[in-house]
Amino acid sequence: MQVLLVASSARGHAIAAALKHSRHNPAILAITPSNNPGISDIASEHHVHDIMDSAFILEKASLFGCDLAIIGPEDPIVCGIADQLETIGIPTVAPQKSLARIEGSKGFTRELLAKYEIDASPKYKVFTSIQGSDLYNYIEQDLDGEVVVKYDGLKGGKGVKVSGDHLDSIDEAVSYAEECIAEGGSVVLEEKLIGPEFSLISFVSGTQVVDTPVVQDHKRAYEGDTGPNTGGMGTVSDAGHSLPFISESHLARAKEINRLVAQALLTECGEPYNGFLYGGFIVTKTGVKLIEYNCRFGDPEVLNILPLLETDFVDLCQCICDGTLSEDNVRFRHAATVCRYITPERYPVSKDQKGAPVTFPEPSEDTHIFYGDISRETDGTLALGGSRTAGIVGIGQTMEEAAAKADTLCQQVQGPVRYRSDIGSDALMQQRVDLVRSF
Ligand code: AMP
Ligand code: GLY
Repeated sequence: MQVLLVASSARGHAIAAALKHSRHNPAILAITPSNNPGISDIASEHHVHDIMDSAFILEKASLFGCDLAIIGPEDPIVCGIADQLETIGIPTVAPQKSLARIEGSKGFTRELLAKYEIDASPKYKVFTSIQGSDLYNYIEQDLDGEVVVKYDGLKGGKGVKVSGDHLDSIDEAVSYAEECIAEGGSVVLEEKLIGPEFSLISFVSGTQVVDTPVVQDHKRAYEGDTGPNTGGMGTVSDAGHSLPFISESHLARAKEINRLVAQALLTECGEPYNGFLYGGFIVTKTGVKLIEYNCRFGDPEVLNILPLLETDFVDLCQCICDGTLSEDNVRFRHAATVCRYITPERYPVSKDQKGAPVTFPEPSEDTHIFYGDISRETDGTLALGGSRTAGIVGIGQTMEEAAAKADTLCQQVQGPVRYRSDIGSDALMQQRVDLVRSF
């Protein structure tokens, strides 16, 4: 069994680790944009190369004789790597280009939900021409001045600006919306929703949908959910595969939305979505709403999810590709997880600690360390990159126990680094529960 893994960062390391545990013991061809030591140690063949160079990927994959491909990040998926791999006969766990618009275009996603009458969107409107007065009036009158402005394309997670967080006035919102139209041709303006967010990632093979445990990400840089947004400072999941602020009916609705969307995508695009479907949801006063879809695993969410998978990951991937996916192929351990990202001390404000040495302890039972933006020097030492360094995961019967396990390892990391020690705490979870109760 030979598997192609196109990946980067800790998400790629977690996927490589799950592949390694498979009973198929696959040989892994890894193509990554930087020299991730975690992936490098697991792969049989590893190329550090531009992951948008599809000609290179196809050439290496066919020389290696890949039976299966897994793609980690969104950019190659949205540009159609799955279509290209499938033309050379390599089944791919990632949707084809037309289906990947679910992440590639926020306008496409909102219009898909509207067309198929899936009632999960906030009030929104897609604008395609620069008419400042229309934009201004829509924000002022229809959205009561509070808006989320979304660039209608991929922008490395930096295309969304929210009133109060990044936008201080309607004029600022209009000017960012005009910038988005000038750059990408369209922009989505949305009502600003209030509530706690959660991620529900499902394995999808056409209309067969199997859910993974619900995870909550913590995007703010500093303790108490303060500071600038980051790629995610850490994530939690609970033993019952839901979270304390999500009611049974809210979870059932999010699961239903993922199923309705898989069906809508099949009807709209005429081909099955085979891959990971990541729904970003929010619990609001008026129920569960959809914030966005991603066509891939979440980072850090996958660091919580894959270590709990009790069934074989390669079998699961094959079932996704050949249409035989069912609940019977997938079982997750009932345990809580807490992931905390170790980052350079001044992340995300400055990258000036890049190159500084860092050392990690050995993971103990029920803990994992997944390497992100870190490199191994020729003398074997590990050096910080500018972004998130490594995700440390603790697994326990309760979130408290999982957090304690993650914390023990986090404290032993040596170097100019930091992490958010409140991720997985009762106090933070209680804030979410109280917010929902106040609705
Ligand atoms: P996205 O790239 O769509 O996930 O947006 C990034 C972040 O912006 C989300 O995780 C939310 O925190 C926030 N966001 C996006 N859309 C909305 C919305 N309609 N209301 C409130 N916050 C939003
Ligand atoms: N956890 C955020 C993301 O993967 O986009």
